[in-house]
Amino acid sequence: MKLAIASDHAGVELKRLILTELDGEGHRWQDLGTWDSTPVDYPDLALAVAEKVISGECDLGVLICGTGAGMAIAANKVPGVRAAVCHDTFTARAAREHNAVNVLALGARVVGPGLAMEVLRAWLAAAPAEGRHRRRVDKITAIERRYGGER
Ligand code: RB5
Repeated sequence: MKLAIASDHAGVELKRLILTELDGEGHRWQDLGTWDSTPVDYPDLALAVAEKVISGECDLGVLICGTGAGMAIAANKVPGVRAAVCHDTFTARAAREHNAVNVLALGARVVGPGLAMEVLRAWLAAAPAEGRHRRRVDKITAIERRYGGER
């Protein structure tokens, strides 16, 4: 399992802390930026992570901005990406199991590092469910195709 991870300037500190924790837990990751507090545009970072995930180079993606919202909106424009903002462990687990969320968006101005890590762990520990949940995710993909998505 390899993660693609990126933040904008608002999320750079949280990203740093998360990467340290991920190292300690033996996860593999690729950090796509940003690396300091110089303001950057979150859609650029969201696209970088989305492309790593849909290409298969990375299995899952993590995006961090001030709220998580901008990152999720931008990443969801890439066909095949299902990004969600999760700030509690219940949503994180359900988002992976029910919605096959493949990009987790976090808001560094919303949650502290402790909760952010718990949310990330809950999401990583879960897996997409089959049956009715798979059928519903397939319907999301069908909507995507209908409106021009290629995946
Ligand atoms: C940056 O100020 C902020 O707008 C950004 O980090 C993010 O919260 C957007 O969704």
